[in-house]
Amino acid sequence: MQIITDPLHMQAIAEKLRLNRQLIGVVMTMGALHEGHLSLINEARKIAGTIILTIFVNPKQFAPHEDFHRYPRPFEQDAAHAKAAGVDYVFAPPVEAVYSENFQTTVHPGPLGEQFEGKQRPGHFSGVATIVTKLLQITRPHIAVFGEKDAQQLAVIKRLVKDLNIDVQIIEAPIIRDENGLAISSRNIYLSAKERDAATVLYKGLCHAERRIAEPCLDLDTIVPEVETIIKSSLSCRPEYICFVDDETFQPASKAEKGKTYRLLLAVQTGTVRLIDNRKFMV
Ligand code: PAF
Repeated sequence: MQIITDPLHMQAIAEKLRLNRQLIGVVMTMGALHEGHLSLINEARKIAGTIILTIFVNPKQFAPHEDFHRYPRPFEQDAAHAKAAGVDYVFAPPVEAVYSENFQTTVHPGPLGEQFEGKQRPGHFSGVATIVTKLLQITRPHIAVFGEKDAQQLAVIKRLVKDLNIDVQIIEAPIIRDENGLAISSRNIYLSAKERDAATVLYKGLCHAERRIAEPCLDLDTIVPEVETIIKSSLSCRPEYICFVDDETFQPASKAEKGKTYRLLLAVQTGTVRLIDNRKFMV
């Protein structure tokens, strides 16, 4: 496994791999790798012959109140995990190699990036869209794997690739959960044992929605308050949003139509930690 820090060097390697007809898969991360990231690498390995893992804590996707400087950066450990997972190249550039002094061009995702997480974290999706576009240009992959855990990010990236005619196939990888149903996330390390226990109400809420839709209850507006009651049954959990969206457009949906796919989005404050989760439903 090679570690590359220079964008031009990475681009030259990717170009050569393409000339040699290698199928390139990329997994983009901000490091502090966990089981969820490793599952993305495994998904990529099912399809691609050469795997590039990017590790870059992107300052442009942190809102002013979020602490970019305190984000964990256990690079040695990440490199060891990447090697064990079969990664061929780790691309880990320094910030100044990605954003030069004169950097001024950004990618704005439009309305899709302004609701839900975008409302809570102003500028976040513009930062994500900009870095993802840059990393796609640098690593030149045939496929790029992103997790369904960050469903809105996935929707923004799928839209961006379509809108900007970027020649890459976006692969969606399923959410990885612990034995209690809690979705694996970098933020889980901030949960106390009590908060971790309380956070199981998110999964319970998603499972309830699944049962109701299977009945079938197509009136999504009646399911939302039921999920809210489940989440509020834990005193330390405060729902921020609970919303069904059309999985294609990410527009809020009140009634489900047969043949379409919807997603229930949850954002919940659990003690001091804000958690997001979601589930996709084919009706
Ligand atoms: O999901 C993440 O870790 C980041 O948002 C990404 C896609 C690597 C962009 O910085």
